[in-house]
Amino acid sequence: MIVVTGATGQLGRLVVRHLLELVPADQLAVVVRDRARATHPAEHGITVRTADHDIPESLIDAFQPGDRVLLVSGNQLGRRLAQHDAVIQAAKTADVALLAYTSILGGPATRFVIADDHQATEHAIEQSGLPFTFLRNGWYTENYTTQLPHVLARGTVIGTADGHSRLATATRDDYAAAAAAVLAGTGHENMTYELSGDRSWSLHEYAAELSRHAGENITYQQVSAVDYQRMLSAAGLPDAMLPVFVDTEDAIARGELATVTGDLSRLIDRPTTPLPAAIKTQLATAGQ
Ligand SMILES: NC(=O)c1ccc[n+]([C@@H]2O[C@H](COP(=O)([O-])OP(=O)(O)OC[C@H]3O[C@@H](n4cnc5c(N)ncnc54)[C@H](OP(=O)(O)O)[C@@H]3O)[C@@H](O)[C@H]2O)c1
Repeated sequence: MIVVTGATGQLGRLVVRHLLELVPADQLAVVVRDRARATHPAEHGITVRTADHDIPESLIDAFQPGDRVLLVSGNQLGRRLAQHDAVIQAAKTADVALLAYTSILGGPATRFVIADDHQATEHAIEQSGLPFTFLRNGWYTENYTTQLPHVLARGTVIGTADGHSRLATATRDDYAAAAAAVLAGTGHENMTYELSGDRSWSLHEYAAELSRHAGENITYQQVSAVDYQRMLSAAGLPDAMLPVFVDTEDAIARGELATVTGDLSRLIDRPTTPLPAAIKTQLATAGQ
């Protein structure tokens, strides 16, 4: 069986949709903590297993020998490393055939705070001795495009990085297609893929692209870390996360999310979704 964890999340849902195009539903299983939220997989005949990564005992029946498993990285800083360890241990006990993991672009070379858990998880997977695939995902294009309503209302894209800083983002759907290709394909054992968009763009270029689509003058505004945290706080982000966002901006300024390798387009066998197309989709979704 191909087994997808985090299958009720935004990325996991898309992985399942891509897998349904590649393999019969009776070869697929999802591991979710809330069965009621897994209606889409259940309706398609996909096996639904339940487990909470915070409760290692609940993972006992999550995997079976020979499964090809995708561990989608957790979304709770401070807790996700223990959650990942629990999944890795369960996968090891079950003797799965492949453990694929959604890591971070650059792996050990990245220096920002949220990369720490990814680096430690990669290490734990290597230590487990299981065949693995590291899907080192770059930044989601949606990290920017879902902010569009606020950006358009304000007329500015805001961050602490210099406007010439570059990112090579890709859409969640592109990363999901790559994960599905690895899970359903062959020859990915003990491979590491550095996944990112085919073309990088600067924050100034992003603002210019937005201006073209929205028909308004949108600019990029570099602000101080203090002002940035104040704005994020006013937008409702929790205090504990504010330094993490500033740290990520520093990583962007250092170019750590700008690496272009072509691994993603090679895995999905097509070009990655260009930034203008992602903006167009998001504007259409937002009813602009
Ligand atoms: N590269 C990037 O730009 C970027 C940006 C954001 C996040 N990420 C990483 O990529 C991951 C996937 O992104 P996403 O957008 O799909 O995130 P998401 O929508 O928040 O999905 C996270 C998934 O993890 C599951 N999960 C969380 N805690 C769990 C637990 N204790 N036991 C079992 N399942 C648990 C969630 O289950 P429920 O549905 O039950 O909540 C959900 O299915 C994130 O978790 C994060 O590590 C990357």
